[in-house]
Amino acid sequence: PGPLRLGVAGLGTVGAGLISLLRDNADIITARAGRPIEVTAVAARDRHRDRGIDLSRFRWHDTVAGLVSDPDVDVVVELIGGAEGTARELVESALAGGKPVVTANKALIALHGDRLARLSEQNRAPLLFEAAVAGGIPAIKTVREGLAADRLLWIGGILNGTCNYILTAMRETGRDFADVLAEAQALGYAEADPSTDVDGIDAAHKLTILASLAFGNPVIFESVHVEGIRRIGALDFSFARTLGYRIKLIGLARQSENGVEARVAPCLVPETSPVAQVDGVFNAVIAEGTYVGRLMVEGRGAGAGPTASAVAADLIDLARDTAVPVWGTRTTALTPVHSRPVSER
Ligand code: NDP
Ligand code: HSE
Repeated sequence: PGPLRLGVAGLGTVGAGLISLLRDNADIITARAGRPIEVTAVAARDRHRDRGIDLSRFRWHDTVAGLVSDPDVDVVVELIGGAEGTARELVESALAGGKPVVTANKALIALHGDRLARLSEQNRAPLLFEAAVAGGIPAIKTVREGLAADRLLWIGGILNGTCNYILTAMRETGRDFADVLAEAQALGYAEADPSTDVDGIDAAHKLTILASLAFGNPVIFESVHVEGIRRIGALDFSFARTLGYRIKLIGLARQSENGVEARVAPCLVPETSPVAQVDGVFNAVIAEGTYVGRLMVEGRGAGAGPTASAVAADLIDLARDTAVPVWGTRTTALTPVHSRPVSER
């Protein structure tokens, strides 16, 4: 087959990272994909912004509609962000037109995953989103494919790199919340609106996606209990240290007799536990299944390189024609479910 031709919408942290990775690793990607993966067209807001990458070989589109309808685009890569507006319109129109989509947009999948799954199925256009959960950690593949045979009892972990970066720096150096947040933004970790990170919403988006995959029905995002880290201060770190704990923003979802329970909140974790050692921009996805037992996968949860790596892995799946349906091998219509807060024990 000929090259897989990409239209990349969004050339910020992740979009620019993807273009660099596809250039630098073209040899191994071609070998593993069985054919070249090439960017043919791009779109962003500002054509003249210096992004530190060479865009001269790509066709520029002023509108995402132009990118979707470009006959030289086989796959649309959505790296704009946001659950509504341009990103949603782009993904919906691409799928409706039968073009596969790869996205890193967790807000979009958490809020509209079920509708998009149906569009994807009806139009036989795969929708892949490995980068939407925990950056460079292959979280979606782990849950949807690696754990496909097991009944999961619970799933969660540290799901926001910005919050973990802030909590780590505040604990280790006593630095000010606002200072460290500004640093996380400069490093490309934070969302366009960083309150999405620090108020726990981004972690809740990711938990919604993980729980939907783990428990076999789309979880309704609005029903997830969410608390962020704004109220954590020096005194909290001091008490936690004295008592032998660390403070982590934890997302946890489990299957109970009441249905799915899911919540995101700052938690005290014993300082000797594996999850307490996950610091800085690192995330951890933790799960327990009846056969597999407990497992934890750790890696960089945000930033250009790790996220681009996850996006490119999806592209290799598309190139090899091994893309998995949104909700795994179950392709019949699923019933969205409300969650309850995880009960205290
Ligand atoms: P950035 O803010 O760095 O980049 C967003 C890009 O989208 C910019 O290039 C911007 O254009 C473009 N854009 C915004 N609005 C429009 C529009 N209306 N039409 C066309 N282009 C538009 O975001 P990130 O790269 O950080 O994030 C992209 C996606 O990846 C988001 O969904 C995010 O949640 C997700 N993600 C991000 C991670 C990270 O570590 N940063 C990790 C995992 C997922 P311009 O540059 O011209 O302003
Ligand atoms: N803003 C997100 C984070 C990006 O900090 O984890 C990765 O999804």
